[in-house]
Amino acid sequence: MTQSPVRYDRQGAVGLITVDSPPVNALSQAVRQGLWDRVTEGFQDPAVTALVIMGAGRTFIAGADIAEFIKGGMGEPDLNDVNDLIESGPKPVIAALHGTALGGGLEVALSCHYRVAVPKALVGLPEVKLGILPGGGGTQRLSRLVGAKTAIEMITSGAFIPAPKAQALGIIDHVGEGADPLSVALAFAATLPAGPHKRTRDREDGLAADRGSSVFAEARAALAKSARNQFAPQRCVDAVEAAFTLPFDEGLTRERELFMQCMAHDQAKALIHVFFAERAVTKIPDVPPSVTPRKIGQVAVLGSGTMGGGIAMNFVNAGIPVRLLDLDQAALDRGMGVIAKNYAGTVAKGKLSQAEMDKRLSLIQPTTDYADLADADLIVEAVFEDADVKAKVFRRLDEVAKPGAILASNTSTLDLDAIAANTGRPADVIGMHFFSPANVMKLLEVVRGKHTAPDVIATAMAVGKQIGKVSVLVGNCDGFVGNRMVQYYATEAQRLVIEGASIEQVDQAALEFGLAMGPFAMGDLAGLDVMAFIRARRVAAGLIYGTPLSDRIDPARKGQKNGRGWYRYEPGNRTPLPDPEVTAMIDAYRAERGITPRTFTHEDIAKRLIYALVNEGAKILEEGMALRAGDIDIVYIYGYGFPAWRGGPMKFAELSGLDQVLADITRYHADAVAAGDADGAYWEPAPLLKRLVAEGRKGFG
Ligand code: 3HC
Ligand code: NAI
Repeated sequence: MTQSPVRYDRQGAVGLITVDSPPVNALSQAVRQGLWDRVTEGFQDPAVTALVIMGAGRTFIAGADIAEFIKGGMGEPDLNDVNDLIESGPKPVIAALHGTALGGGLEVALSCHYRVAVPKALVGLPEVKLGILPGGGGTQRLSRLVGAKTAIEMITSGAFIPAPKAQALGIIDHVGEGADPLSVALAFAATLPAGPHKRTRDREDGLAADRGSSVFAEARAALAKSARNQFAPQRCVDAVEAAFTLPFDEGLTRERELFMQCMAHDQAKALIHVFFAERAVTKIPDVPPSVTPRKIGQVAVLGSGTMGGGIAMNFVNAGIPVRLLDLDQAALDRGMGVIAKNYAGTVAKGKLSQAEMDKRLSLIQPTTDYADLADADLIVEAVFEDADVKAKVFRRLDEVAKPGAILASNTSTLDLDAIAANTGRPADVIGMHFFSPANVMKLLEVVRGKHTAPDVIATAMAVGKQIGKVSVLVGNCDGFVGNRMVQYYATEAQRLVIEGASIEQVDQAALEFGLAMGPFAMGDLAGLDVMAFIRARRVAAGLIYGTPLSDRIDPARKGQKNGRGWYRYEPGNRTPLPDPEVTAMIDAYRAERGITPRTFTHEDIAKRLIYALVNEGAKILEEGMALRAGDIDIVYIYGYGFPAWRGGPMKFAELSGLDQVLADITRYHADAVAAGDADGAYWEPAPLLKRLVAEGRKGFG
């Protein structure tokens, strides 16, 4: 018989129930059964007058076992039955919280008669981040303790609340000293009153004031904007409202119905996929956790321009000192000025203290002297995107960097192996591709060169985590993963316009799909001049792809930076406005090619944009440039504002049905061929997609 993950011990007159199911004590079937058995045992144990439920290891219970959700069929006992048993038993039960008491874990705690915690404990109901809602009575019990407004805020944001704040809100009864939840709980148990010990379901503290209040309507209206198109947040409000309109048991039934609706929704499938994909990106088959990362104490950044400045900020924000090198003092002063301005903006918003700003700035040492880089453990190059400039820089770095230093390039489009060949130590060279603004965007593409050493990869991944990035390992191909795919997305946006859609309509369709920004607005933000520069290199290298309108637009149109791009912008205002000059250019182009504009639905447009990503993503996957389809999804969610609730482009394709997606792609290809439109050649269906569909497979594996 396998051992139960839940133990029962006795400490004086207190029965101790310890959940010991690493890594996070999630409520698997075995844990639920164990809780049921041990709580029953405790209630029957004549030697104890109270029970304590706690978690072994680093945390209390961090929630339902999400892996079980995917497998389906959660098995008996149901969490609600366990909670009912705890709440309605003959002895008081104290939840002793440390680490994170989340989701089903907090629901177990809410079913206890008392909750105590160590100061560092965090509580929350983060189910909404998985596209679901608390399904173990959390919406009903929390509402009874804290009222509608706080319950809605907590449940629709999924925020983790520190124990002292949770105590102030009435969720936790007592926050003790130190780090040991057991001693806090035992001290609390020693002072327990005789009773009766109120069940949370019977408490009315939070209900009275909010019955019939406008808070529900207001929350729905706010979420319609902030969580546009999302299913679960609105259902969370419905569930909380039920606590105010229905008796407890009926409220629970309503919560269960809403929970099941969410679970059946594609958005839950998408978000649960993202949860696991985000954790899977850290796993690299030939770089196991046994590979020790190199120690990074001192960093150097080369180039103090747009990217270099942001990259330097990432490191000093994490307390790692940086030497920042540029060509001359003027460039350095400019770069340092931008960094200081960025921090000052954060200080002005009240999100950073002046003292902290000063401390961070003092960690950056500007220099123009390569000799100052001699003690750097990691050097990140972010100079001009020019192969000759980079070659010179890497030759120089090879001379000055100490043995074992990691030489990283932030190049977006150049060949990493060619860059590494300028050094006598290609094993120490790696790509660390940040996204703009580098101090804000969470994505870091870690580019593996032909010779990059495993511990260099491990270090880049670890450092990425340390500075708060989501790091994804990618192969060395043109544009790596993100930009390689986005070029087809941008081209498709232009083809749609040539065929009859307007620029505004294409961007609107992308926004409605859930993207943070449409493709044309994105081009204006990135800078059309920068894109033209990159395109020129690609054309020269024979890596031609069509961006027909980019070749026609007036080169003086640089985008937001000079107020003229695909859109026009009023001075000091980032709102894109339609520009008649651009419309005239498009009309002329259509006339030249004899194209009669046709109409599109927003759904047609979104499909063509997203499937352009999917088809290239499948090619990338087959070439091994990304390790997993989920890695591509994470690149898009954290680097390109792709909505997590769609799961990323690859998961979206799976949820749409790979066979349907392939049928559409095949049709787009046939249409491009029939129209003699060479720009649409990339619609040639990815062989991997064809194979998966032929084999009847539903996913990328
Ligand atoms: N179920 C299953 N596995 C889980 C899990 C869960 N609830 N929470 C974490 N894990 C796994 C992770 O997948 C990871 O596995 P791996 O090592 O194989 O990759 C491992 O535990 C460690 O997780 P992290 O890498 O995320 O560790 P951190 O220390 O960075 O974070 C955490 C810990 C804050 C607990 C974070 O894992 C987390 O936020 N977990 C999810 C919490 C959550 O959403 N709970 C609600 C679940 S839904 C629910 O309870 C429904 C109920 O109302 C009915
Ligand atoms: P930038 O033009 O803003 O900054 C480049 C800086 O490098 C300038 O300050 C310049 O003086 C300095 N520089 C040039 N030659 C140098 C040399 N030999 N030694 C030291 N410093 C030198 O350019 P940006 O946008 O910051 O780009 C830098 C790198 O980052 C490029 O490789 C680019 O492809 C990449 N990148 C850019 C992104 C963006 O959105 N701008 C996004 C991701 C990567």
